[in-house]
Amino acid sequence: MIKAVRGTRDLLPPDTELWNFVERKVREVFARYNYHEIRTPVFESTELFARGVGEDTDIVSKEMFTWEDKARAASEKTQTLTLRPENTAGVVRAYIEHELGRSGLLQKLYYIGPQFRRERPQKGRYRQFFQIGAEVLGPPTAGSELPMRDAEILDMLTALLDAVGLKGWTLYLNSVGCLDCRPAYNQALREALAGVKDQLCGDCQRRAETNPLRVLDCKVPADQPIFEKLPKIADYLDEGCRTHFAEVRAILDTLKVPYQVNERMVRGLDYYTRTTFEFTHGDLGAQSAVLGGGRYDGLSEQLGGPKAPGIGFAIGEDRLVLALQAQQQQALAPLKAFVMPLGKGMNRHAMKLAKELRAAGIAVDVSDESFRLKKSFETAEKLGAAFAIIVGENEVQAGAYAVKDLKSGEQTTVSGGELLAYLAD
Ligand code: HAM
Repeated sequence: MIKAVRGTRDLLPPDTELWNFVERKVREVFARYNYHEIRTPVFESTELFARGVGEDTDIVSKEMFTWEDKARAASEKTQTLTLRPENTAGVVRAYIEHELGRSGLLQKLYYIGPQFRRERPQKGRYRQFFQIGAEVLGPPTAGSELPMRDAEILDMLTALLDAVGLKGWTLYLNSVGCLDCRPAYNQALREALAGVKDQLCGDCQRRAETNPLRVLDCKVPADQPIFEKLPKIADYLDEGCRTHFAEVRAILDTLKVPYQVNERMVRGLDYYTRTTFEFTHGDLGAQSAVLGGGRYDGLSEQLGGPKAPGIGFAIGEDRLVLALQAQQQQALAPLKAFVMPLGKGMNRHAMKLAKELRAAGIAVDVSDESFRLKKSFETAEKLGAAFAIIVGENEVQAGAYAVKDLKSGEQTTVSGGELLAYLAD
């Protein structure tokens, strides 16, 4: 049997319903913020990612699907191509190529599509995965550098997460400075790391020299205590970066967007300047980042384009769907009790009991007095209820119910006063 390649997967119904629901909400919410769709190719010149994302990042140094594409005609050249590992570099390339800055307006672009990274597959981490992303960029005269753009994009993200119904996320925010002030921080970091280098993991020993900022991104548990004592980027931001970050935070406070500053969050791509952010979710285990992004004020120039500051993010759609599914399962908590009125006139009593139990937070469904007891038990089982509670005339008079544990089959009489405690055990 031929199977899907390691790290790739089929998305099947009914899961695809949830994917489509998410994408519908994305289009609705992003349109409200005046974003428009861009579709760039799934493969690009390798050089785009090497220059854009950075040679020394994990993505470029070890995770790209790259191949030599042989010339097929005298008019063609052999070239090195790569399946896109992310979409920001492609969007900025398109911005430059089509001279989108010429309108003088901000470009507010979004995309939904597959990305490819040769990572070790695990839950929430795939070799083909989907991103929902957005980028806002343009000439500085269009206001592309302003802190309000950063705040607007974060506000849009919270609106989207609200619209799809994701609860329990945390927004982590940081500023990684700019090309003017970061060298001093890099130097301080390099010096501090020199003293502790031999205690770090192999990757960090290499990064400590080539790209010290990357060290902060390390997830190896043994390295973490060492990082606590390293210099903090906030102490090295220049005046411009400091006021920019303060203004982003002030607007977020005004918009009541909750966040936590995390000075360790530098992100795994080299193009970031100033604001960086990630949203995490507790139900995702090790791969807890639902989305990440930040500002990239020098990227266009680095790719040979005009000055075009920008900021963007990408949501891991696979992870967003996983988090929503985990949440749904919690919401669809197994039915605790099936209340079964037995005999004429008992529906009212059953409804009263069900209401009391539900008010105490217990998931309850109710049968109907026209059901025979056998049918009620069968229904309770089909619904997966943990307990069946019989509400007949005798029970109502005695103020005690016959309660059957549907797993063990055991039946006991429980007084009304003890019922909640009994079900809770
Ligand atoms: P990134 O942090 O590399 O940023 O990826 C963004 C999100 O994509 C992650 O938070 C995660 O949810 C998801 N993701 C990444 N790798 C995988 C994987 N192997 N399997 C499943 N999901 C994954 C970027 O890609 C930047 N281009 C974001 C950006 C846009 N920054 C500015 N503009």
